[in-house]
Amino acid sequence: MDASKDSRTNEVRLVFDSLSENESFARMVIAAFIMDMDPTMDELADVKTAVSEAVTNCVIHGYNGGAGKIYMNCRREGDSVTVEIIDYGAGIEDIEKAMEPLYTTRPELERSGMGFAFMEAFMDSLSVESTPGKGTRIVMEKTLGREDAYTQAL
Ligand SMILES: Nc1ncnc2c1ncn2[C@@H]1O[C@H](COP(=O)(O)OP(=O)(O)OP(=O)(O)O)[C@@H](O)[C@H]1O
Ligand SMILES: [Mg+2]
Repeated sequence: MDASKDSRTNEVRLVFDSLSENESFARMVIAAFIMDMDPTMDELADVKTAVSEAVTNCVIHGYNGGAGKIYMNCRREGDSVTVEIIDYGAGIEDIEKAMEPLYTTRPELERSGMGFAFMEAFMDSLSVESTPGKGTRIVMEKTLGREDAYTQAL
């Protein structure tokens, strides 16, 4: 692989309305963003799912189905992709509890409480900052094509 390609940086910033149809839009954006990083099918699916879970949380919990703006910032540094997703909605009272698998504050909506668990499982790192009444910011990072890099290093 071309070494200059590996060290490339790129950034895309996006603002969209809090609408459920924009969940699939966000998935397509991140897929397009990482496409030239040569992700495996699994990596592509992982990143799309993580982004989709984060955006769904903004729509359902952050803005409670109402109006609001969602900010999605995508950054590539070499073979690492970082996605930041921000809402200025309800915020989270107890982040530690919210991140526990199967914990949901909306069981009546048939949420399973697995969104954060998926984000953690599918990405290399996840950080959540939130202030009740102000909003939530999540940042997640994943290094792509590691298997490939490992093989080449042998
Ligand atoms: N952007 C957000 N704004 C406010 N609260 C949030 C936000 N994201 C998550 N939460 C809170 O954290 C809890 C856990 O989120 P998580 O995504 O793990 O589960 P869920 O959304 O309830 O269910 P699922 O994702 O499985 O449909 C939510 O029930 C909600 O209380
Ligand atoms: Mg969720």
